[in-house]
Amino acid sequence: MALENMNEMLKKAQQDKYAVGAFNILDYNSMKAVVDAAVELQAPVIIQTSVKTVLFWGYRPMAEWYRELAEPASVPVAIHLDHCKDIEVIKNCIECGWTSVMIDASAKPFSENLAMTRQVVDVAQPKNISVEAEMGAIVGVEDDIHVKEQDAHLADPDEAEKFCQDLSLDCFAPAIGTAHGLYKGEPKIAFDCLEEIAKRIDVPLALHGGTGLSDEVFRRCIASGCAKVNISTQLKHVHIDSFVKYYHQKPEEYNPLTVLRAQYEDLKEAVKENIQLFGSAGKAS
Ligand code: 13P
Repeated sequence: MALENMNEMLKKAQQDKYAVGAFNILDYNSMKAVVDAAVELQAPVIIQTSVKTVLFWGYRPMAEWYRELAEPASVPVAIHLDHCKDIEVIKNCIECGWTSVMIDASAKPFSENLAMTRQVVDVAQPKNISVEAEMGAIVGVEDDIHVKEQDAHLADPDEAEKFCQDLSLDCFAPAIGTAHGLYKGEPKIAFDCLEEIAKRIDVPLALHGGTGLSDEVFRRCIASGCAKVNISTQLKHVHIDSFVKYYHQKPEEYNPLTVLRAQYEDLKEAVKENIQLFGSAGKAS
């Protein structure tokens, strides 16, 4: 159990038609909330770190946290670097013990995306580190990647098929109309594109832009082959809202540890709700 790459957990999820939650953490408290939620529900889980968060805290402190939290956990936990364009950052994470990385060269033309992803696969997979890559352009802001509405485009099934034939990826993230950040209107999910890609390739698919999707959309995407669901914005909101709520309830208290406790409880609850929704509760063994 405990710390592992994403391979086995995603393959099982793909076969049994549920999804493993990948939760973007911000600090030790949120990382603990994610691991504890997964343990309480006996679910495999992915701790996801954005590049910004890694650079904010530093590689080694974060590595200490997840070792301490994930190694004794009674569920499989992967530690995954989210959207990274910089191969040096990827190499540093691998050296410090991350078990999984995402190379995001999706803004580049097909052949460059392929070449850069291959470079990461060659560095990572011999060390048993799983690799996720993206194709198409997902609208919104994730870390320092900004995609405007007019620049967003879906993954092309022919290109996706070729990409996944040429590389031995562990997880593939096709743009299917979801968005990073909050949705402005009703999201238009290209289920036909998702279904076509899932029919043609055997690699477990990642659903990005999970915050704000309806239960029905989640169910349909998971049934169509999404074995990993990313949640970031929701946790950022819970992080801050729980702080504010506590302060308003007890403005005289000024005890940071009780505020952190309240924040931890709210984050854990939000993660548990997602795990239940994605169907991964009880799938740890
Ligand atoms: P949200 O910001 O919509 O939660 O998406 C998260 C994500 O896809 C991270 O890569």
